[in-house]
Amino acid sequence: MKPLETNCLSTMLLDWYDNNGRVLPWRTDPSPYHVWLSEIMLQQTRVEAVRDYYKRFLDALPTIEALAKADEDLCTKLWQGLGYYSRVRNLHRAALQIMEEHGGVMPQSSRELQNLSGVGPYTAAAIASICFDERIPAIDGNLLRVFSRMTGYDQDIKSNAAKSAARDYYLQIFPQTRCGDFNQALMDLGACVCLPAGAPHCADCPWQNHCRAKADGTCQELPFTAPKAKRTIEHKTVFLIYYHGKLALRRRPDSGLLAGLYEYPNTDGNLTESELPDYLHALGFSAVRVRSLPAAKHIFSHKEWHMTGWEILCLFHPVGFCKIHI
Ligand code: ADE
Repeated sequence: MKPLETNCLSTMLLDWYDNNGRVLPWRTDPSPYHVWLSEIMLQQTRVEAVRDYYKRFLDALPTIEALAKADEDLCTKLWQGLGYYSRVRNLHRAALQIMEEHGGVMPQSSRELQNLSGVGPYTAAAIASICFDERIPAIDGNLLRVFSRMTGYDQDIKSNAAKSAARDYYLQIFPQTRCGDFNQALMDLGACVCLPAGAPHCADCPWQNHCRAKADGTCQELPFTAPKAKRTIEHKTVFLIYYHGKLALRRRPDSGLLAGLYEYPNTDGNLTESELPDYLHALGFSAVRVRSLPAAKHIFSHKEWHMTGWEILCLFHPVGFCKIHI
C-alpha cells in the first residue's frame, strides 16, 4: 500500500467514527478499570446485553481495590446470566494481582497487561490502545471480518495465520495517535456496517471505494471459515432432590467446565427408574417418591448434554453429600 493510501484510510475511518461511533458507557469515562471490565464482559457477549451488567457491577464494585476485596461469590452473583464464568473468576484474581504486584495501578503496556489473569492478546491490546494510546490492533472477530473483506483474504479466518496477516495489514494503516479510537472505530464498523450475516451496509462504509470484496462482489463469501468439528454428545441424568422443602445443590470442581458453579446432583448416562434405588442408596438417600422430568438439552460450544431427570422426594439427608439450599 502507498503511504498516501494508508494515511487516508485511517483519516477516513476516524472521521466516520467521530460522526457515527456508538455512545457506550465505557467510552464516556474510559478509565483503565472501566475499559478492562467492559472488554472482559464483551468477550462472547453482545454490547446490548452487557450495558446493564456493566452498570450493576460498577455500582457494587466501583474500583479495582473494591473488586480485589470482594468475596468471589459476590462477583459471581453480579455476573450471573452473562455466562462464561471463568471470566469473572479471572477478573477477581487479576484485581488481586494489580493490588499486590502493581500497587493498585493497572499496568500500561500490552505486554505487561497480558500477565494479568484472564487478559489475552486481544484484551491487552484493547486496554493499552484505548487507555494508553499504544499503537496496537485489537484483533477480534470484527477486525478479522473487515480485514478479510478489505483485502480479499480467503483463507480460514479462525487460523493464527489469518490473525497474523490481519495484524500486519492493520499496522500499515494504523494512525500514530488516537489508537484506541481507531480500534473502536473498527469494532463499530464491523458491528454496525460490515455485518457478519446477511448483506453488509456497504453504502454506509467509509472504505467502500477501497474494499476488495465490494469490488469483486464477494462480501457474502468472506470471511471464509473452515467447517467446525462436530460437538460431542454426553448423556446425563439430573436429580432434583427435595428434602424438607429444600432442594439439593452441589458445587462443581474448581477447574474444567463450569468450574466452581453450583448444579443439581447428576450422573453420567441415562438412569432408568429401576436403577434409581441402588444409585440413591449408594449416596445415602432414601426416596419416598420419584417422578420423571421432561428431557432437556444444554448446548455448549464443543459438546451437548442430553439430559433426563428425576424429581425425588426424600426424608433422610446423607451426611457429607451435598449442601442443601433453598
Ligand atoms: N467489543 C469489544 N470491545 C468493544 C468496545 N470497546 N466497543 C464496542 N464494542 C466492543
